Amino acid sequence: MSPRGRRSGGGSPELDLTTRLGPLVLPNPVMTAAGTAGHGAELAAYFDLASIGAVVVKSLSAEPWPGNPPPRVCPVPGGMLNSVGLQGPGVAGWAREELPRLEASGARVVVSLWGRRVEEFAQAASLLEKVAASSPAVVAVELNVSCPNLEDRSRMFAHSPEATAAAVAAARRIRLPLFAKLSPNTSELVEVARAALQAGADGLTLTNTLLGLAIDTAERRPALGAGGGGLSGPALHSVALRAVFECRRAFPAVPIIGVGGISEGEGALRMLMAGADAVQVGTATLAEPRAPALVLASLERTLARHGATSLAAVVGSAQDDETKAAMAGTRRRDEP
Ligand SMILES: Cc1cc2nc3c(=O)[nH]c(=O)nc-3n(C[C@H](O)[C@H](O)[C@H](O)COP(=O)(O)O)c2cc1C
Repeated sequence: MSPRGRRSGGGSPELDLTTRLGPLVLPNPVMTAAGTAGHGAELAAYFDLASIGAVVVKSLSAEPWPGNPPPRVCPVPGGMLNSVGLQGPGVAGWAREELPRLEASGARVVVSLWGRRVEEFAQAASLLEKVAASSPAVVAVELNVSCPNLEDRSRMFAHSPEATAAAVAAARRIRLPLFAKLSPNTSELVEVARAALQAGADGLTLTNTLLGLAIDTAERRPALGAGGGGLSGPALHSVALRAVFECRRAFPAVPIIGVGGISEGEGALRMLMAGADAVQVGTATLAEPRAPALVLASLERTLARHGATSLAAVVGSAQDDETKAAMAGTRRRDEP
Protein backbone atom coordinates (compact mmCIF):
# COMPACT_ATOMS: atom_id res chain seq x y z
CA MET A 1 0.00 0.00 0.00
CA SER A 2 1.29 3.44 -0.85
CA PRO A 3 2.22 5.59 2.13
CA ARG A 4 -0.53 7.84 0.83
CA GLY A 5 -3.09 5.04 0.53
CA ARG A 6 -6.08 5.44 2.83
CA ARG A 7 -8.72 3.27 4.29
CA SER A 8 -9.94 0.34 2.23
CA GLY A 9 -12.31 0.95 -0.66
CA GLY A 10 -14.65 -2.02 -0.63
CA GLY A 11 -14.65 -4.89 -3.12
CA SER A 12 -15.40 -8.55 -2.57
CA PRO A 13 -12.66 -10.57 -0.87
CA GLU A 14 -12.21 -13.03 -3.75
CA LEU A 15 -11.88 -10.29 -6.41
CA ASP A 16 -8.70 -8.25 -6.15
CA LEU A 17 -9.50 -4.78 -7.48
CA THR A 18 -6.28 -3.15 -6.32
CA THR A 19 -4.79 -0.92 -8.98
CA ARG A 20 -1.23 0.34 -9.09
CA LEU A 21 -0.76 3.68 -10.82
CA GLY A 22 3.00 4.04 -10.57
CA PRO A 23 3.67 5.39 -7.09
CA LEU A 24 -0.04 5.48 -6.24
CA VAL A 25 -1.88 2.33 -5.14
CA LEU A 26 -5.67 2.42 -4.92
CA PRO A 27 -7.98 -0.27 -3.53
CA ASN A 28 -10.11 -0.19 -6.66
CA PRO A 29 -9.97 1.48 -10.08
CA VAL A 30 -13.05 3.74 -10.05
CA MET A 31 -12.69 7.49 -9.53
CA THR A 32 -14.79 10.56 -10.10
CA ALA A 33 -13.87 12.75 -13.09
CA ALA A 34 -12.69 16.32 -12.48
CA GLY A 35 -15.45 18.90 -12.55
CA THR A 36 -18.32 16.45 -12.26
CA ALA A 37 -18.14 15.80 -8.50
CA GLY A 38 -17.79 19.38 -7.28
CA HIS A 39 -14.85 20.83 -5.41
CA GLY A 40 -15.41 18.94 -2.20
CA ALA A 41 -17.53 16.36 -0.44
CA GLU A 42 -20.81 17.15 -2.28
CA LEU A 43 -21.30 13.50 -3.28
CA ALA A 44 -20.84 12.21 0.29
CA ALA A 45 -24.60 12.58 0.73
CA TYR A 46 -25.09 9.87 -1.92
CA PHE A 47 -22.36 7.28 -1.26
CA ASP A 48 -19.29 6.61 0.88
CA LEU A 49 -16.52 8.57 -0.84
CA ALA A 50 -13.91 6.24 0.67
CA SER A 51 -15.52 3.27 -1.10
CA ILE A 52 -14.27 4.30 -4.54
CA GLY A 53 -10.63 4.44 -5.63
CA ALA A 54 -10.32 8.22 -5.43
CA VAL A 55 -12.23 11.48 -5.66
CA VAL A 56 -10.84 13.86 -8.29
CA VAL A 57 -11.82 17.42 -7.49
CA LYS A 58 -12.73 20.11 -9.99
CA SER A 59 -9.67 21.75 -11.51
CA LEU A 60 -8.11 24.45 -9.35
CA SER A 61 -5.88 27.33 -10.38
CA ALA A 62 -3.43 29.15 -8.14
CA GLU A 63 -5.88 32.05 -7.70
CA PRO A 64 -9.72 32.11 -7.63
CA TRP A 65 -11.20 32.16 -11.16
CA PRO A 66 -14.72 33.28 -12.16
CA GLY A 67 -15.27 30.88 -15.09
CA ASN A 68 -17.43 31.52 -18.15
CA PRO A 69 -20.74 33.35 -18.61
CA PRO A 70 -23.98 31.29 -18.45
CA PRO A 71 -25.52 29.18 -19.85
CA ARG A 72 -22.70 26.75 -19.07
CA VAL A 73 -24.20 23.36 -19.81
CA CYS A 74 -26.48 22.07 -22.51
CA PRO A 75 -27.79 18.58 -23.37
CA VAL A 76 -26.87 17.41 -26.90
CA PRO A 77 -27.37 14.11 -28.75
CA GLY A 78 -25.12 11.49 -27.15
CA GLY A 79 -24.19 13.53 -24.09
CA MET A 80 -23.74 17.13 -23.06
CA LEU A 81 -21.71 20.24 -23.78
CA ASN A 82 -20.19 22.31 -21.01
CA SER A 83 -18.31 25.58 -20.87
CA VAL A 84 -17.99 26.00 -17.13
CA GLY A 85 -14.65 27.66 -17.79
CA LEU A 86 -12.86 26.19 -14.76
CA GLN A 87 -14.55 28.41 -12.18
CA GLY A 88 -12.98 27.80 -8.80
CA PRO A 89 -11.86 29.17 -5.43
CA GLY A 90 -8.11 28.76 -6.04
CA VAL A 91 -5.91 26.24 -4.23
CA ALA A 92 -5.77 28.09 -0.88
CA GLY A 93 -9.51 28.83 -0.80
CA TRP A 94 -10.26 25.21 -1.65
CA ALA A 95 -7.95 23.92 1.07
CA ARG A 96 -9.68 26.17 3.60
CA GLU A 97 -13.32 25.67 2.55
CA GLU A 98 -13.55 22.22 0.96
CA LEU A 99 -10.68 19.97 1.98
CA PRO A 100 -11.71 19.49 5.65
CA ARG A 101 -14.99 17.78 4.68
CA LEU A 102 -13.19 15.64 2.12
CA GLU A 103 -10.68 14.62 4.79
CA ALA A 104 -13.52 13.74 7.15
CA SER A 105 -15.10 11.54 4.47
CA GLY A 106 -12.01 9.31 4.32
CA ALA A 107 -11.73 9.84 0.55
CA ARG A 108 -8.43 9.58 -1.27
CA VAL A 109 -8.25 12.95 -3.00
CA VAL A 110 -6.69 13.66 -6.38
CA VAL A 111 -6.35 17.39 -6.94
CA SER A 112 -6.75 18.63 -10.49
CA LEU A 113 -4.71 21.74 -11.27
CA TRP A 114 -4.75 24.08 -14.25
CA GLY A 115 -3.16 27.33 -15.36
CA ARG A 116 -3.27 29.85 -18.18
CA ARG A 117 0.51 30.26 -18.31
CA VAL A 118 3.34 27.84 -17.57
CA GLU A 119 4.17 29.88 -14.46
CA GLU A 120 0.62 29.45 -13.15
CA PHE A 121 1.03 25.65 -13.21
CA ALA A 122 4.16 26.08 -11.09
CA GLN A 123 2.33 28.39 -8.66
CA ALA A 124 -0.66 26.06 -8.30
CA ALA A 125 1.63 23.07 -7.70
CA SER A 126 3.68 24.93 -5.15
CA LEU A 127 0.54 25.98 -3.23
CA LEU A 128 -0.76 22.41 -3.32
CA GLU A 129 2.56 21.05 -2.09
CA LYS A 130 2.11 23.05 1.12
CA VAL A 131 -1.48 21.82 1.52
CA ALA A 132 -0.53 18.18 0.90
CA ALA A 133 2.28 18.37 3.46
CA SER A 134 -0.34 18.53 6.21
CA SER A 135 -3.11 16.50 4.56
CA PRO A 136 -2.57 12.78 3.91
CA ALA A 137 -5.96 12.78 2.16
CA VAL A 138 -4.29 14.37 -0.88
CA VAL A 139 -2.79 11.41 -2.72
CA ALA A 140 -2.04 12.72 -6.23
CA VAL A 141 -2.21 15.57 -8.74
CA GLU A 142 -3.97 15.51 -12.07
CA LEU A 143 -2.66 18.23 -14.34
CA ASN A 144 -5.41 19.51 -16.62
CA VAL A 145 -3.47 20.70 -19.65
CA SER A 146 -6.63 20.82 -21.76
CA CYS A 147 -6.95 24.55 -21.21
CA PRO A 148 -5.97 27.67 -23.19
CA ASN A 149 -2.33 28.82 -23.09
CA LEU A 150 -2.32 32.63 -23.00
CA GLU A 151 1.32 32.60 -24.06
CA ASP A 152 0.44 30.80 -27.31
CA ARG A 153 -2.63 32.65 -28.67
CA SER A 154 -4.87 30.61 -26.35
CA ARG A 155 -4.03 27.38 -28.15
CA MET A 156 -4.62 24.47 -25.75
CA PHE A 157 -1.50 23.32 -23.88
CA ALA A 158 -2.48 19.74 -24.68
CA HIS A 159 -2.45 20.43 -28.42
CA SER A 160 1.28 21.03 -28.35
CA PRO A 161 3.96 18.59 -27.13
CA GLU A 162 6.22 21.52 -26.17
CA ALA A 163 3.59 23.42 -24.18
CA THR A 164 2.46 20.22 -22.46
CA ALA A 165 6.04 19.42 -21.48
CA ALA A 166 6.53 22.94 -20.16
CA ALA A 167 3.37 22.78 -18.00
CA VAL A 168 4.25 19.35 -16.63
CA ALA A 169 7.85 20.34 -15.92
CA ALA A 170 6.65 23.48 -14.11
CA ALA A 171 4.34 21.46 -11.85
CA ARG A 172 6.65 18.48 -11.50
CA ARG A 173 8.48 19.98 -8.53
CA ILE A 174 5.59 18.74 -6.43
CA ARG A 175 6.37 15.46 -4.65
CA LEU A 176 3.06 13.75 -5.38
CA PRO A 177 2.18 11.24 -8.10
CA LEU A 178 1.30 13.37 -11.15
CA PHE A 179 -1.01 12.45 -14.03
CA ALA A 180 -1.28 14.59 -17.16
CA LYS A 181 -4.86 14.85 -18.40
CA LEU A 182 -4.82 15.19 -22.16
CA SER A 183 -7.18 16.40 -24.85
CA PRO A 184 -8.59 14.15 -27.58
CA ASN A 185 -8.70 17.10 -30.01
CA THR A 186 -5.32 16.40 -31.58
CA SER A 187 -3.89 14.00 -34.12
CA GLU A 188 -0.66 14.11 -32.13
CA LEU A 189 -1.99 12.51 -28.96
CA VAL A 190 0.83 9.98 -28.61
CA GLU A 191 3.46 12.69 -29.16
CA VAL A 192 1.81 14.95 -26.59
CA ALA A 193 1.63 12.01 -24.17
CA ARG A 194 5.31 11.24 -24.74
CA ALA A 195 6.20 14.87 -24.04
CA ALA A 196 4.21 14.79 -20.79
CA LEU A 197 5.93 11.59 -19.67
CA GLN A 198 9.39 12.81 -20.61
CA ALA A 199 8.73 16.00 -18.62
CA GLY A 200 8.07 13.89 -15.54
CA ALA A 201 4.39 12.86 -15.49
CA ASP A 202 3.91 9.51 -13.73
CA GLY A 203 0.94 8.66 -15.92
CA LEU A 204 -1.82 9.84 -18.23
CA THR A 205 -5.52 10.59 -17.86
CA LEU A 206 -7.32 10.11 -21.17
CA THR A 207 -9.32 12.07 -22.08
CA ASN A 208 -10.80 15.47 -21.52
CA THR A 209 -13.81 16.60 -23.60
CA LEU A 210 -14.09 17.01 -27.38
CA LEU A 211 -14.55 20.52 -28.73
CA GLY A 212 -18.18 21.02 -29.77
CA LEU A 213 -20.93 23.51 -30.39
CA ALA A 214 -24.69 23.61 -29.80
CA ILE A 215 -27.01 26.05 -31.57
CA ASP A 216 -30.11 27.61 -30.03
CA THR A 217 -32.30 27.71 -33.16
CA ALA A 218 -34.94 29.98 -31.60
CA GLU A 219 -32.31 32.60 -30.74
CA ARG A 220 -30.10 31.88 -33.79
CA ARG A 221 -26.95 31.80 -31.70
CA PRO A 222 -24.69 29.33 -29.86
CA ALA A 223 -26.54 27.79 -26.92
CA LEU A 224 -23.66 28.25 -24.45
CA GLY A 225 -22.61 31.63 -23.10
CA ALA A 226 -18.99 31.12 -24.14
CA GLY A 227 -19.90 29.97 -27.66
CA GLY A 228 -18.39 26.49 -27.95
CA GLY A 229 -17.98 23.92 -25.21
CA GLY A 230 -16.68 20.44 -24.38
CA LEU A 231 -18.60 17.33 -25.44
CA SER A 232 -18.79 14.55 -22.84
CA GLY A 233 -20.86 11.45 -22.16
CA PRO A 234 -21.66 8.44 -24.39
CA ALA A 235 -20.60 10.23 -27.61
CA LEU A 236 -17.06 10.53 -26.22
CA HIS A 237 -16.69 6.89 -25.21
CA SER A 238 -15.26 5.44 -28.45
CA VAL A 239 -12.91 8.40 -28.81
CA ALA A 240 -11.56 7.92 -25.29
CA LEU A 241 -11.26 4.15 -25.79
CA ARG A 242 -9.12 4.71 -28.85
CA ALA A 243 -6.95 7.26 -27.06
CA VAL A 244 -6.33 4.75 -24.25
CA PHE A 245 -5.73 1.92 -26.72
CA GLU A 246 -3.16 3.90 -28.72
CA CYS A 247 -1.33 5.26 -25.70
CA ARG A 248 -1.23 1.82 -24.06
CA ARG A 249 0.32 0.41 -27.25
CA ALA A 250 2.88 3.22 -27.30
CA PHE A 251 3.63 3.09 -23.55
CA PRO A 252 3.03 -0.45 -22.28
CA ALA A 253 4.21 0.22 -18.72
CA VAL A 254 2.82 3.70 -18.06
CA PRO A 255 -0.16 4.16 -15.69
CA ILE A 256 -3.25 5.18 -17.68
CA ILE A 257 -6.60 6.39 -16.35
CA GLY A 258 -9.44 6.15 -18.89
CA VAL A 259 -12.35 8.58 -18.87
CA GLY A 260 -15.17 9.24 -21.31
CA GLY A 261 -18.76 8.05 -21.41
CA ILE A 262 -18.50 5.42 -18.67
CA SER A 263 -21.82 4.83 -16.92
CA GLU A 264 -21.78 1.11 -16.06
CA GLY A 265 -19.48 -1.87 -15.57
CA GLU A 266 -19.30 -2.86 -19.24
CA GLY A 267 -18.05 0.60 -20.20
CA ALA A 268 -15.45 0.45 -17.44
CA LEU A 269 -14.42 -3.02 -18.56
CA ARG A 270 -14.01 -1.87 -22.17
CA MET A 271 -11.70 0.90 -20.94
CA LEU A 272 -9.67 -1.57 -18.85
CA MET A 273 -9.41 -4.00 -21.77
CA ALA A 274 -8.20 -1.14 -24.01
CA GLY A 275 -5.38 -0.66 -21.51
CA ALA A 276 -6.54 1.62 -18.70
CA ASP A 277 -5.42 0.78 -15.15
CA ALA A 278 -8.26 2.85 -13.68
CA VAL A 279 -11.35 4.70 -14.87
CA GLN A 280 -13.20 7.90 -14.06
CA VAL A 281 -16.92 8.55 -14.14
CA GLY A 282 -18.01 12.05 -15.16
CA THR A 283 -21.19 13.01 -16.98
CA ALA A 284 -23.06 9.96 -15.65
CA THR A 285 -22.70 11.45 -12.16
CA LEU A 286 -24.56 14.60 -13.17
CA ALA A 287 -27.65 12.49 -13.94
CA GLU A 288 -27.18 9.99 -11.07
CA PRO A 289 -24.97 11.19 -8.18
CA ARG A 290 -24.32 7.61 -7.05
CA ALA A 291 -22.87 6.74 -10.48
CA PRO A 292 -19.22 6.19 -9.40
CA ALA A 293 -20.31 3.72 -6.67
CA LEU A 294 -22.79 2.07 -9.03
CA VAL A 295 -20.11 1.70 -11.72
CA LEU A 296 -17.82 0.06 -9.16
CA ALA A 297 -20.51 -2.42 -8.09
CA SER A 298 -21.42 -3.09 -11.71
CA LEU A 299 -17.75 -3.57 -12.65
CA GLU A 300 -17.37 -6.18 -9.88
CA ARG A 301 -20.34 -8.13 -11.27
CA THR A 302 -19.09 -7.74 -14.85
CA LEU A 303 -15.60 -9.00 -13.93
CA ALA A 304 -17.12 -11.95 -12.10
CA ARG A 305 -19.17 -12.79 -15.21
CA HIS A 306 -15.95 -12.74 -17.22
CA GLY A 307 -14.35 -15.09 -14.70
CA ALA A 308 -11.66 -12.51 -13.79
CA THR A 309 -10.18 -12.66 -10.28
CA SER A 310 -8.04 -9.55 -10.58
CA LEU A 311 -7.82 -6.36 -12.58
CA ALA A 312 -4.49 -7.44 -14.00
CA ALA A 313 -6.30 -10.24 -15.81
CA VAL A 314 -8.24 -7.77 -17.94
CA VAL A 315 -6.11 -4.61 -18.22
CA GLY A 316 -4.93 -4.38 -21.83
CA SER A 317 -6.44 -7.74 -22.73
CA ALA A 318 -7.82 -6.31 -26.00
CA GLN A 319 -4.29 -5.36 -27.13
CA ASP A 320 -2.19 -7.31 -29.64
CA ASP A 321 0.22 -9.98 -28.42
CA GLU A 322 3.29 -7.79 -28.79
CA THR A 323 1.78 -5.07 -26.59
CA LYS A 324 0.62 -7.64 -24.04
CA ALA A 325 4.14 -9.06 -23.89
CA ALA A 326 5.56 -5.56 -23.43
CA MET A 327 3.00 -4.89 -20.67
CA ALA A 328 3.97 -8.10 -18.92
CA GLY A 329 7.59 -6.97 -19.04
CA THR A 330 8.67 -9.90 -21.15
CA ARG A 331 9.57 -7.66 -24.05
CA ARG A 332 10.84 -4.10 -23.88
CA ARG A 333 9.80 -1.21 -26.03
CA ASP A 334 11.32 2.25 -26.09
CA GLU A 335 9.28 4.35 -23.75
CA PRO A 336 8.29 7.00 -23.17
C1 LIG B 1 -19.67 19.95 -16.25
C2 LIG B 1 -18.28 19.43 -16.50
C3 LIG B 1 -17.19 20.06 -15.90
C4 LIG B 1 -15.89 19.58 -16.12
N1 LIG B 1 -14.85 20.19 -15.49
C5 LIG B 1 -13.60 19.69 -15.65
C6 LIG B 1 -12.52 20.22 -14.91
O1 LIG B 1 -12.66 21.12 -14.09
N2 LIG B 1 -11.28 19.71 -15.16
C7 LIG B 1 -11.06 18.67 -16.03
O2 LIG B 1 -9.91 18.24 -16.19
N3 LIG B 1 -12.09 18.13 -16.71
C8 LIG B 1 -13.34 18.59 -16.53
N4 LIG B 1 -14.39 18.00 -17.19
C9 LIG B 1 -14.13 16.83 -18.06
C10 LIG B 1 -14.36 15.52 -17.30
O3 LIG B 1 -13.51 15.39 -16.19
C11 LIG B 1 -14.16 14.31 -18.25
O4 LIG B 1 -12.83 14.29 -18.71
C12 LIG B 1 -15.09 14.34 -19.44
O5 LIG B 1 -16.36 14.86 -19.10
C13 LIG B 1 -15.25 12.95 -20.06
O6 LIG B 1 -15.81 12.03 -19.15
P1 LIG B 1 -17.40 11.71 -19.10
O7 LIG B 1 -17.85 11.41 -20.51
O8 LIG B 1 -17.54 10.55 -18.19
O9 LIG B 1 -18.06 12.94 -18.59
C14 LIG B 1 -15.69 18.45 -16.99
C15 LIG B 1 -16.79 17.83 -17.58
C16 LIG B 1 -18.08 18.30 -17.36
C17 LIG B 1 -19.23 17.58 -18.00
